[in-house]
Amino acid sequence: MADFIVLFGPPGVGKGTQAELLVRRFKLPHVATGDLFRDHIKRHTPLGRLAKGYMDRGELVPDAVTIGMLRERIEQPDAANGALLDGFPRSAAQADALAQLLAEKGEAVRVVLLISVPTDALLERLANRRTCSRCGAVYNLVTNPPQQDGTCDRCGGPVVQRADDQPEVQKKRIDVYLQQTMPLVDYYRERRLVEEIDGQQTIPEVHHQILEAIGRSRARPAQR
Ligand code: AP5
Repeated sequence: MADFIVLFGPPGVGKGTQAELLVRRFKLPHVATGDLFRDHIKRHTPLGRLAKGYMDRGELVPDAVTIGMLRERIEQPDAANGALLDGFPRSAAQADALAQLLAEKGEAVRVVLLISVPTDALLERLANRRTCSRCGAVYNLVTNPPQQDGTCDRCGGPVVQRADDQPEVQKKRIDVYLQQTMPLVDYYRERRLVEEIDGQQTIPEVHHQILEAIGRSRARPAQR
């Protein structure tokens, strides 16, 4: 069975940060729908123009568009052995589509890593997050600042605040998560796929919990 691993949790909980660590360890592609949309926006594609309005308002991009983009991505050869899904699925329609897409390959979701952090801590993390606009590296002004102010340690690109990290949009994104995405936890609990991760620990500690959870999920019979 391939490793299709879902990183699940609210905005700012640390999904992207943990995905970067897991990619190095498991050699799986990091498939983040938010990053795919941001890449389309940068390239001024029609999909990027459509997605931008929704993202700037903190709303979900419509399911049909998002599912089509995800399908195209996981059909690439580098996802043959699995992928780290970050930010997908986010609605019931997306969860059903993912199950169907994977079933077509004879695969299924291996585990859903539900990362949790209280809302006030999420807002603080989002307010202090900065991202390299060239390579996407994620920083935090308090816990993990770039060595040189405004410059990416990895590629030297400009480190900026994401457009949707403005306070009013942050709150909207968290509300959208609670209303439209959180209900999927029950969907995945019914399928015994959820592993709870305490996201309030340090980044290496959260990583350690995730490795243990993936180990447990691999020891269980596949849920197809
Ligand atoms: P997306 O890009 O997916 O954003 P998100 O889910 O809101 O998640 P974030 O990237 O904000 O947070 P994260 O959990 O990755 O946290 P990070 O690791 O950066 O989506 C953006 C938009 O795209 C959506 O609003 C929507 O419009 C659209 N979209 C995307 N997918 C979609 C879909 N499937 N359907 C429809 N629309 C979709 O960490 C945050 C900060 O905390 C960083 O500064 C980091 O350094 C710090 N940090 C991380 N871990 C720790 C720790 N353990 N301790 C202290 N600080 C930490």
